[in-house]
Amino acid sequence: MTSVTSSASAISASTTARISNPFGADKAIHAQARSLPQQLEPISHALSHGRYQSPLRYPGAKSSLSPVIARIITSAKQSREVPEVNLLVEPFAGGASASLRAIGEGVADRILLADADPLVTSFWQAAADDTEQLIDRMYGEWNRYIRNGGVSGVERWDYWRVWAPRPEMDSRDRRMSVAMQCLFLNRTTFSGILHGKAGPIGGRAQASAYPIGCRWNPDALAERIRYVGHLYTIGRLVDVWCKDWRQTLEDVPEQYPQLLPSRVVAYLDPPYIEKSSLLYRTSFDPHGGYGSNGRTSDTRPGIDTLHLDLAGYLRTKAQFRWLLSYDNYPLLMQSKWLYGQSRMAPTDIDRETLGVRQWRISKRLVATRYSAGGRSGKKSAEELLITTLPPSTVPVDDQLRLP
Ligand SMILES: C[S@@+](CC[C@H](N)C(=O)[O-])C[C@H]1O[C@@H](n2cnc3c(N)ncnc32)[C@H](O)[C@@H]1O
Repeated sequence: MTSVTSSASAISASTTARISNPFGADKAIHAQARSLPQQLEPISHALSHGRYQSPLRYPGAKSSLSPVIARIITSAKQSREVPEVNLLVEPFAGGASASLRAIGEGVADRILLADADPLVTSFWQAAADDTEQLIDRMYGEWNRYIRNGGVSGVERWDYWRVWAPRPEMDSRDRRMSVAMQCLFLNRTTFSGILHGKAGPIGGRAQASAYPIGCRWNPDALAERIRYVGHLYTIGRLVDVWCKDWRQTLEDVPEQYPQLLPSRVVAYLDPPYIEKSSLLYRTSFDPHGGYGSNGRTSDTRPGIDTLHLDLAGYLRTKAQFRWLLSYDNYPLLMQSKWLYGQSRMAPTDIDRETLGVRQWRISKRLVATRYSAGGRSGKKSAEELLITTLPPSTVPVDDQLRLP
């Protein structure tokens, strides 16, 4: 049985995952952040109300949960406390399906994407800022290597699998190539998994009915990338950060002091507690991913300290309201070091100096279907939603249950 034996010592352990960055990814789209436009332009792209908007296939992607996330935030906006959401921050963005949906439906005025994986953030940065060039590169790879599949597709997969930017590359070229590497591997690797253990779709022999290019529809991808570019052009996507979750949460108030904390919401979708190192390059699991905290072995049977760190931060330090989705792991609701408590508990100093509030913590279970690593494709699961949005506005479980 799993147990959290840890205590304050685990909570106070360094929360910042050491993330090496062999790709030289930029921390933001531009060194100098753009100012937020005063006037919000309408979104004029057909995909704003599309069912799928993300160009990335993502293990654990929240596309089926996205309508629920949108519903919860929309419901919160009926309250006096959160009449509008001027910025939705997604610190574990991955495929960003929830944010893309929320912005398209007008749930939030703007979105900010962040992730610790430099491959993923380079992709979003290039899609936002070098949209047409990325689309050209994507068509080029498709035409030369993927369209006809077979050996040329697998050889190209091998190329991208080990490719690393040369030190002399100029930063924009480097970002573009890393973005292409991310997109290529994401569309051609089993389940969209970007790290070492997964192979090319269709296997090395390409004898399967599903060849390497079966998840690569260039025209649909081009439109999805254009949608991201459009959101950035009109200032609805404010930036893409390559940062650890904590840095993202701390930097938002500094970067955007003009936004009222009560009108900023963070949606957090951390890696799954179990098996996350098999799915993500940057995982919370100390045994895998280069987000590893450097320990070679961890004998505690329970939840990794970084999940505890996140819970500790959200319970005591978060300056704006948050909505968190997790795999339904009973301990999350039982342990006081996780989300067992019903209220945030900041210190008096943080209440005074940072304005951290003692918001109530609401919990809901939602039945969902997600795409997981494995041969089974979509699986059913219960997702746990935990939030500090005004409790009276958070729909009850039955209303949230997906069809
Ligand atoms: C569950 S996935 C997010 C999936 C996303 N919600 C979607 O719908 O596609 C978790 C993400 O967290 C990122 N991640 C892992 N450790 C992180 C850290 N310490 N800080 C920020 N992001 C991290 C991974 O790179 C991965 O993209």
